[in-house]
Amino acid sequence: MYRTNTCGELRLADAGREVTLAGWVQRVRKMGGMTFLDLRDRYGLTQIVFNNDSDASLCEAANHLGREFVVQVTGTVAERTSKNPNLPTGDIEIYANSLRVLNPSEVPPFTIEDETDGGDDLRMKFRYLDLRRNPVRRNLELRHRMTMETRRYLDSKGFLEIETPMLVGSTPEGARDFVVPSRMNPGCFYALPQSPQTLKQLLMVSGMDRYFQIVKCFRDEDLRADRQPEFTQIDCEMSFVNQDDVIGLFEGMAKHLFKELRGVELTEPFVRMPWADAMKYYGSDKPDLRFDMKFVELMDIMKGSGFAVFDNAAYIGGICAKGAATYTRKQLDQLTEFVKRPQIGAKGMVYARVEADGNVKSSVDKFYTQETLQKMKEAFGAEPGDLILILSGDDAMKTRKQLCELRLEMGNQLGLRDKNKFACLWVVDFPMFEWSEEEQRLMAMHHPFTHPKDEDIPLLDTDPAAVRADAYDMVVNGVEVGGGSIRIHDAALQAKMFEILGFTPEKAQEQFGFLMNAFKYGAPPHGGLAYGLDRWVSLFAGLDSIRDCIAFPKNNSGRDVMLEAPAALDQKQLDELQLALNLEEKK
Ligand code: AMO
Repeated sequence: MYRTNTCGELRLADAGREVTLAGWVQRVRKMGGMTFLDLRDRYGLTQIVFNNDSDASLCEAANHLGREFVVQVTGTVAERTSKNPNLPTGDIEIYANSLRVLNPSEVPPFTIEDETDGGDDLRMKFRYLDLRRNPVRRNLELRHRMTMETRRYLDSKGFLEIETPMLVGSTPEGARDFVVPSRMNPGCFYALPQSPQTLKQLLMVSGMDRYFQIVKCFRDEDLRADRQPEFTQIDCEMSFVNQDDVIGLFEGMAKHLFKELRGVELTEPFVRMPWADAMKYYGSDKPDLRFDMKFVELMDIMKGSGFAVFDNAAYIGGICAKGAATYTRKQLDQLTEFVKRPQIGAKGMVYARVEADGNVKSSVDKFYTQETLQKMKEAFGAEPGDLILILSGDDAMKTRKQLCELRLEMGNQLGLRDKNKFACLWVVDFPMFEWSEEEQRLMAMHHPFTHPKDEDIPLLDTDPAAVRADAYDMVVNGVEVGGGSIRIHDAALQAKMFEILGFTPEKAQEQFGFLMNAFKYGAPPHGGLAYGLDRWVSLFAGLDSIRDCIAFPKNNSGRDVMLEAPAALDQKQLDELQLALNLEEKK
């Protein structure tokens, strides 16, 4: 037997027992005639004591252990004289009477401690060592509990977990596909699914009624802190439901997860905010509602007073930062630099302080009377001590997005984005389509199977850009943690949608014929949603990047530096696939 107990298990009640533990050497300390070894495994850390007086050769062997050696120790559990209250096993230690090295280790490239000296790249290259560290391991444990609770909740609601294929066909809408060549079908390629969207809809046609799957999805898009090229969805679909049914069930699931995983009881119904309001008041379809700082539009008040920047603007709007009038000139200059960064792209920023006597002092005082500035103050409901920050621009949507960045930055600076506070909402009534500059056509904002709002269906013929969809996203703390919609189940409406999206009937048949044909055989009304598992776990764990809750993530260039993937193929493999490369010469 390798062990009788784990390294996290023994307590004072075990004193006097003879036990065998196995694990990794965290640290060896020699103090006088004693050697102390911290032995680690997944479950914790236990202190082992070797006494030179009682067994000098055993103690000598312990002194020669290196970090990360795998060892087995047998000994007697004893109460510690100096207890460690920070360690669950801190009341005891084990007096060793035997030590066996199961496997030596080279010196690890970084210290395997909660605070490590290893940089990002090194830790990713040796990710299996990084995973021995408590913070990373704890994230994976949380992820495990999240999937367990998800299964428990969905099973209790009658959902069936059904797997769908990983080798599917490429679809033109959405992000770029990762493709896989087929040896048996030369010149043909599978695509890895961006999501099981159409397959789950087919399962509804099959009468499965309630489906879910915890499933890998693949998207070849630019990476960010909350995006990986392969990520995991909790993908769900239900039949005979409307938007309220889906929202109700998945709000229940979110509350269940908050309670079980964070001990947070959310009793109030989540806010439901129309997309148009989210854009108008927060400049984002995923507003962070942990703090208020709503946008106030100032076109009526500030335009036409001779300040050319505002006079020529299509949008003037601002935010009011409570109590921030103490901001120095230097801090305000830094904020101006912040909004002028190329990623944000504002031309400048106007500020105004509300002084103790209620007067407003602004950076553009010479263009405005105190009366106008007071009107502006009232529009914000601003009080003495508040700071007003204003942006303007010739494109309302772009300016709102810039103001959104400024709002989030102010939220950070004023400490309003506490990771232990959670603000959940549904963004609803998304536009059905968005204009693509690249493609010069309307594209589906969610996907082409989304149902338009019944009352907007007549607009499909007259003003498609104004059509809203039965589509909803769940947003927590400014992160989109899930999204879904009610689907079209009517073949004629689906055909019309493809037409608006610029598909000829032949092209629609070629790409989505399988779905349109299925809809001829009794498709029930249906809808669903997919949660992003990685985003939920990183939210619960308070992480800055979803990478930290994925066992083996990709880096920002989409590479796995440990596996050294992606990599070139052998000529033999290329020949088998009948593929010839046409790489541009590297300059
Ligand atoms: P959507 O594309 O909104 O919807 O994706 C659903 C959720 O998946 C997460 N997500 C990601 N997480 C990490 N890395 C990524 N690259 C990434 N992309 C998306 C987000 C998002 O909210 N088939 C539809 C769902 C439906 O309509 O039922 C879909 O895939 O949390």
